[in-house]
Amino acid sequence: MLKRPKIAIVGAGGNVGAAVAHWAAVKELGDLVLIDLKGSVAQGRGLDLTQCSPFEGFNNTSFVAGEDPALMKDADVVVMTAGVPRKPGQSREELININAGIVRDICANVKKYAPESILVVVSNPLDAMVFVAKQVTGFPRERVIGSAGILDSARYRTNIALATGASVEDVSAIVLGAHTDKDMVPVTSTATVGGVPLTKILAADKLSEVVEKTKKGGAELTALIGTSAWLAPGAGTSLMVESIVRNQGRLLPCSIELNGEFGVKGCFVGVPVKLGMKGAEKVYEFELSAQEKEAFANSVKANQELMEIAKTFL
Ligand code: LAC
Repeated sequence: MLKRPKIAIVGAGGNVGAAVAHWAAVKELGDLVLIDLKGSVAQGRGLDLTQCSPFEGFNNTSFVAGEDPALMKDADVVVMTAGVPRKPGQSREELININAGIVRDICANVKKYAPESILVVVSNPLDAMVFVAKQVTGFPRERVIGSAGILDSARYRTNIALATGASVEDVSAIVLGAHTDKDMVPVTSTATVGGVPLTKILAADKLSEVVEKTKKGGAELTALIGTSAWLAPGAGTSLMVESIVRNQGRLLPCSIELNGEFGVKGCFVGVPVKLGMKGAEKVYEFELSAQEKEAFANSVKANQELMEIAKTFL
């Protein structure tokens, strides 16, 4: 029997979870299951979203929502957005003491109810939470993927478009490394605008402004809004889910456990990944500049330290 993909979003009562649901519904990615500790909020989010369907013409007039983790039973994809968001002035790393336990407990349910699923982690501090998810579920690394690089890259591309005055559509640029203000690595050596190297278009000082603005992109939004962003995080995550359920093979930066790639083993960090129906099907390696190599090594070190802290919750 034909079946639509089942996509469970955990933490769907929150802003990021609701934004993932929004984009997933508009794109008609599958049957959505909205789960939240506050079951009625998840139900309300689902109802509100479903009432957009007459305007937007997406074909989804039913949804499942509630607090029972068993609702995720046999999901094809589970999106983990549960946990607290950061407040102005707070780093993502500071959330580890609250979010590690939340993510750990939910992942035990993912293992129990959706053992064949592909798990997309969005909770912060991102790379350490992907590590927790991988440890608790025991899933192969292909099926435990962190959503962050795609968001940081969208911010990077936007900042490049603003700085150059060129259309964002023609900007091709990625951010690798840790999802932290301090250590993420906006890659300049391979960034292009319409096929022209970015380093030929922007002077060195402008380029470092763009890089710095990108690294602090999440903090800038948190200061402005009073809580962390959700529209772009949700849109980016749903793009990852789309590439998986439609087997598109998009090449997107995602956090995954490295197994020797980029000279790193056993650490979770953002790298270019091919996303398809099996999950993170391949990691693409390439030569970074000397400066980028150093920044990437710092990312790995920072994430290893966070993973050590996360271990105390396992
Ligand atoms: C951000 C959060 C969601 O970067 O990590 O906006």
